[in-house]
Amino acid sequence: MQNWPKVELHVHLDCSLTYDVVKLIDPAITRDQYRQAFVGPVKCLDLADFLDCTNAAVQLLQTKKALSLAVHGLFSQWKRDHVVYGELRFAPLLHTQGGLTPDEVITTVIEAAETCKKEKDIEAGIILCTLRHFNESQSMETIRLVEKYLGDHIVGFDIASDEAGYPIDAHVGAFHYANDKGIPCTAHAGEAKGPESVWETLENFFPRRIGHGARAMEDPKLVNHLRAEQIHLEVCPTSNIQTNVFASYTDHCIDRMYAEGLSISINTDARAIADVTLTEEYRKLCETFGWAPAHFMKCNMEAIKHAFTTPAIRQKVRLRMMEEFTR
Ligand code: ADE
Ligand code: ZN
Repeated sequence: MQNWPKVELHVHLDCSLTYDVVKLIDPAITRDQYRQAFVGPVKCLDLADFLDCTNAAVQLLQTKKALSLAVHGLFSQWKRDHVVYGELRFAPLLHTQGGLTPDEVITTVIEAAETCKKEKDIEAGIILCTLRHFNESQSMETIRLVEKYLGDHIVGFDIASDEAGYPIDAHVGAFHYANDKGIPCTAHAGEAKGPESVWETLENFFPRRIGHGARAMEDPKLVNHLRAEQIHLEVCPTSNIQTNVFASYTDHCIDRMYAEGLSISINTDARAIADVTLTEEYRKLCETFGWAPAHFMKCNMEAIKHAFTTPAIRQKVRLRMMEEFTR
């Protein structure tokens, strides 16, 4: 399972710091201290409680060295999981507390990703996030940064953070701007709130993909709409258990999403905070729902179809998947 080729579309850089990476930045830290500060409990009260677990990582990622090590660490995890195409995401405006400018933050991540892509033979893109609690000007600043760096490196725009705690109003302008310019968009929704939040997101942000979207399953009309419009859902099962969207893995609706014919992919969301790898996520799906190689092939083909990438890379990844999955 570890050697199956994989596509991962939804993983946050600041939620994916391994002990090895943190120790390179802060050599004094012990494994216990790392677990305490950088790994979340198996069960959080809710999404807001889970988001509190990101504070230590954000505090640490305020220098070029730390950001670059974080990217190298994520690509190493991708390599171990045999990810052949990945999209990493982060909010650049969170990393300016140590004096870096947003441009320095972004170019540092781009440069590190470029090196890693070549070193590890992994195709990758970077998504910049605005956050629910940001104001209109921070959201506009973020989308203008996406526009400025759009190309081989920065590939899209997202909104993350506390879906239940903050309304969408401050971000409608940024998504309008993105859609006007043809910038690919995804948006976290249907995680801490139900189908009404997914409808609201679709009708105001017009994203091509939804981050999570699991709670869309509570509304059959919405399921039909997502299928008809081919909106891709970046599903992150273990993260959904941790944020208390579902009580346990058995209760997760991913198997029903698949059976409904929705376009879905399998993702970790927060490798360190959720203490999960993509291979473990696949193993849990096999054990819990009896998923077979055909399920994973289908999800990965859907993922690459909806990836924010070029036709040439899409084709290259498809060929790799077909060669290596049937081997
Ligand atoms: N940021 C990191 N993980 C997130 C999640 N699961 N939902 C919203 N924002 C996040
Ligand atoms: Zn996420």
